[in-house]
Amino acid sequence: MELWTDIESEYRERTPTSKDDYEEIYRHVPAGVASTYRAWDPYPFIVERAAGVTLHDVDGNSYLDFDMNNGAGMVGHAHPKVTEAITEQLHDGTLFTHPHNLLAKAAKELKKRWEPVDLVRFTNSGTESTMHAIRTARAYSGRDKLLKIEGSYHGVHDYVLISKSTPEGKLGHPERPAKVIESEGVPKKTAETVEVAPWNDLDAVEAILKDHVNEIGALIVEPIVMNVGMTQPYGDFLQGLRDLCDEHNIVYIFDEVKTGVKIAPGGAAEYYGIEPDLVTMAKSIGGNFPVGAFGGREEVMREIENGAAHFGTYNGSPLVLCAMVTVLQEILTDDAYEHVNDLGESLAEGYQDIMEDTGITGHVENVNSQGTVSFSEETITDYRDYVANVDVGFHENYWFAMLNQGVLPHPHDASQQWTISVQHSQADIDEHLEAFKAVAPRLANEQET
Ligand SMILES: Cc1ncc(COP(=O)(O)O)c(C=O)c1O
Repeated sequence: MELWTDIESEYRERTPTSKDDYEEIYRHVPAGVASTYRAWDPYPFIVERAAGVTLHDVDGNSYLDFDMNNGAGMVGHAHPKVTEAITEQLHDGTLFTHPHNLLAKAAKELKKRWEPVDLVRFTNSGTESTMHAIRTARAYSGRDKLLKIEGSYHGVHDYVLISKSTPEGKLGHPERPAKVIESEGVPKKTAETVEVAPWNDLDAVEAILKDHVNEIGALIVEPIVMNVGMTQPYGDFLQGLRDLCDEHNIVYIFDEVKTGVKIAPGGAAEYYGIEPDLVTMAKSIGGNFPVGAFGGREEVMREIENGAAHFGTYNGSPLVLCAMVTVLQEILTDDAYEHVNDLGESLAEGYQDIMEDTGITGHVENVNSQGTVSFSEETITDYRDYVANVDVGFHENYWFAMLNQGVLPHPHDASQQWTISVQHSQADIDEHLEAFKAVAPRLANEQET
């Protein structure tokens, strides 16, 4: 507690203008933020500008940024190539609600990366991508029910706001997780159209499918569960799901909003060698622009021509598609992947070494450009493990202590992971690790008490 008091007062001392500005925003905007997740105690710092790998706040502090816009910024901030392309497009028009040639250009770039993707539609966010992919899958299968994994996040439309962060007392049976609606305002009946399965337990998934034969038409998974830190699939879990989907005629959807283009050029489908029927994408495909996409097997995607609705005024705007094409063609190159993967490894090893040297109990999970540190006895394996074993309060000490050192280690909250961008350098990794080294002894001390 004493540690937190010190850390919080240091944060307050460094950010008085942020506090005043936040209070002003709060008067006009619920929770003082544009996405409720961004509100944290005592108050968030207010960003003035960003460039390269650095965020600058209104008090003149700078933060070496490994949050990178909740993982949307694998290209880093204001990448010169994106800025140049966008500037040119600004002069030629930012929105056409008629077809234009960037549609095919951008779709071809995604198809090159995702083997199973024959056809692509564009959206403006990850939420829209999962919403439309699920609708298309339901239309194709002719079945209403969706199967999702406990603890996985797929955005904020009603059908996926179920059993994402179930409180410990309401989890239900490990093999039959309870269906818990996450938001006021979501009709209770929504839960009747969704089933929830545990992660990494193929037998449990199979049993649920057997109980709902011919009811479940779509299965959506985050191929790495990324909203409990990072929990990878074990053994042949993802392929096992593929086989079960084939057996039960279910559309298999990979939600690659976080993994796509980040853990490999072709996301988790490439990294784990799996062929989903549909893939949802957003975040880092767009170089910090609000763009999403979903795509997949031709016969499923053609449902959009047969009654599965997909409309949107801003879908496929030339502005965001020109950002996407620039990112995919010119920035996320093979060399860029080598660079970020090396840095990711270096950061992960550095954390592990510092924890060992200072006696901090914790684990690093790292897959190429993304990684996370959990201060737990064992590696976190699923949502329940996260709830039971991650001390969120302790993680808060770490996160704010790092901010006070000028490093934003990952988005706020123990459930999140860092993003290494193409603009980070080994010197940035070293600076990140120096900051952790500086705060580690006090954290170790706190953990002991
Ligand atoms: C796996 C996953 N799917 C979907 C979404 C929703 O994306 P968006 O915030 O762009 O709506 C997120 C957001 O973090 C996500 O992590």
